[in-house]
Amino acid sequence: MYFQLTKRTVSILMVLVSVVMFFYACKKDITAPQTTDCKTTPYIITVPKGFPAIAFNPHNPMTVEGIELGRKLYYDTIISNDGRACGQCHSQSSGFTTYQSNALVHANLAWATNFLWNGEVSGSMEDIMMFEVGKFFNTNVSKLNGNESYKTLFKKAYGVDSITRKDVAFSLAQFFRALVSADSKFDKFTRGEVSLTQSEMNGYLLFNTERGDCFHCHSTPLFTDNTFRNIGLDSVFTTVNSGRYKITHDPQDKGKFKVPTLRNIELSAPYMHDGRFKTLEEVVEHYNSGVKLSETIDPIMTKAGKEYGLKLTVQEKTDLVNFLKTFTDYTFISNKAFSKQ
Ligand code: HEC
Ligand code: HEC
Repeated sequence: MYFQLTKRTVSILMVLVSVVMFFYACKKDITAPQTTDCKTTPYIITVPKGFPAIAFNPHNPMTVEGIELGRKLYYDTIISNDGRACGQCHSQSSGFTTYQSNALVHANLAWATNFLWNGEVSGSMEDIMMFEVGKFFNTNVSKLNGNESYKTLFKKAYGVDSITRKDVAFSLAQFFRALVSADSKFDKFTRGEVSLTQSEMNGYLLFNTERGDCFHCHSTPLFTDNTFRNIGLDSVFTTVNSGRYKITHDPQDKGKFKVPTLRNIELSAPYMHDGRFKTLEEVVEHYNSGVKLSETIDPIMTKAGKEYGLKLTVQEKTDLVNFLKTFTDYTFISNKAFSKQ
């Protein structure tokens, strides 16, 4: 009871914070003066029950106009120089990733602090979006500045007359923060709305106990603990698979990768940073019998009793896969507010 009240208090506080932020939306900094054309509507994210608080950026308050602009940009090739759009590689129907690509899913990144498989970018949603429009897309803003429709939309959302990369990144960041997935069967089960099948329940127990031991890294409800780990995919590390080492040059980081969320995992094959596994069965078999030793392997992978793998039965492997499939959020993948439209 006390716990619930605390959560509610947090939600109320979040609402208050959003309302206060609204008044600052159009005059967030000197590049966005308040004008009569900039009338934003606050967008209030309800933090799902049991989720941690979101780290909002006071310089980029969430507004209906900002998110809608971010959505449009996400699906528009105008921000790239070679005809690509973000939404082409990250498609909504596959949990914002692409079939046959190792793209990371976009769900609940509002809670993330490290981005990309090797954590090349750390910080806020705005930081990763600056990277996307800068280093990755090399966005040419003169195309946007020559587009009357976008000029109006940016004016409405940010009060700017001249669009900069920062405005593009900030509005994409707003869209990304809105991509909240919390309505999978697993969430409904947690809320007491549905029950799991016996197989899913067995998988749940495997996942959340030392037996399967997935929960230490893929901690609920985000299914990631936001760390980098070596799960024994390889034992020799060249530049491609050296992971976090490529960024930090610390030998302790060889073979370590971002612990990805498992939300919508059923839809986002192939798996791992290099897409080496085609199915969830293959992934489970890796944890069961495929772990390779190296100096930087995570201690969890080699804990006492695990020396020869998890030794799961055929039924237990099926149960684990069935449980992973309860993370699919059909509300999220069909939400028109996130679609190309
Ligand atoms: C050509 C395909 C492609 C396009 C286009 C693309 N991405 Fe990605 N995206 C990927 C891949 C692959 C990864 C994983 C790469 C890595 O981590 O090294 C990724 C990773 C990401 C991540 C990191 C997610 C995480 O969990 O750390 C974000 C955020 C992201 N992309 C946003 C965008 C945005 C915004 C755009 C448009 C500006 C975009 N992407 C365009 C393929 C693409
Ligand atoms: C020591 C931390 C750790 C443990 C324990 C762990 N994982 Fe992972 N998991 C990771 C990391 C890190 C990756 C990404 C590795 C890579 O690509 O190099 C990953 C990747 C995955 C992927 C693929 C995700 C994607 O987007 O491609 C799945 C599925 C998965 N894990 C499921 C499980 C299951 C099921 C268990 C328990 C049997 C488990 N994990 C235990 C850290 C862990």
